Amino acid sequence: MTDKIIITIDGWSSCGKSTLAKQLAKKLGYLYIDSGAMYRAITLYFLRNNIDIADEHKIKQALKNITLEFRVNEYSHQSEIFLNEENVEYIIRDLIIAEKVSEIAALKEVRSFAVKAQQKIGKNKGIVMDGRDIGTTVFPHAELKIFMVADETVRVERRFTEMFDKNPNITLDEIKANIEMRDYIDSHREISPLRKASDAIVIDNTHLTEKEQLEFALGLLKKRKKAVGAEK
Ligand code: CDP
Ligand code: CDP
Repeated sequence: MTDKIIITIDGWSSCGKSTLAKQLAKKLGYLYIDSGAMYRAITLYFLRNNIDIADEHKIKQALKNITLEFRVNEYSHQSEIFLNEENVEYIIRDLIIAEKVSEIAALKEVRSFAVKAQQKIGKNKGIVMDGRDIGTTVFPHAELKIFMVADETVRVERRFTEMFDKNPNITLDEIKANIEMRDYIDSHREISPLRKASDAIVIDNTHLTEKEQLEFALGLLKKRKKAVGAEK
């Protein structure tokens, strides 16, 4: 029996989910999985190959040709996503992908493909996974579930700062429109919409630094581990 647990972090775009997930995984020696990267990589494949998303058969065929894998970069020690053996970790952060990803992530074939892969990766526990439906659909029995929120203005500014570093042509308005659009589609889609799991704990990090959010989450973790009797 494993004494490791599963930690899920869901929430709105750009509210610090992956930052917290990476912090926790590092602290605990757990695997960190960015489920959003999987949907972004699938979107990249669909765009590159002009997949007609109105055609179920074409979607199924396309998914058969996709292999996704996370590999840890030996220098940065960060996990990076590979699409059919190609490192796409950086390309998938582009706004072109962000503009299409929510539409593609809403497709039932795509969701079932990604959810199955995520459940397989998490079967041995010892994992922190962030996304939109991780606590509700992927790991409904996870031992610790966090739902992150932050004011929209703060989220837009944070994402803008992050993206402006890589692309100085990007505007605050473009980021705001993209975040609002994705939040809307993600929370209104038919399958596994973004929702707080009934047993998830909310962290509002609008006024928290990255260090403070980690301390808060470690406090939650301590309580949960005591409750479930886990050691690691
Ligand atoms: O994963 P998600 O889209 O929810 O957000 P993220 O990529 O973890 O965070 C978006 C940006 O906010 C990053 O540049 C983080 O460094 C920053 N951040 C912050 O400034 N303060 C926090 N408490 C959390 C994240
Ligand atoms: O970093 P950010 O919060 O902006 O987005 P992300 O985590 O990279 O996710 C990109 C998109 O993938 C989201 O806007 C959702 O449309 C989709 N997604 C999803 O549907 N389910 C997940 N578990 C994770 C992401």
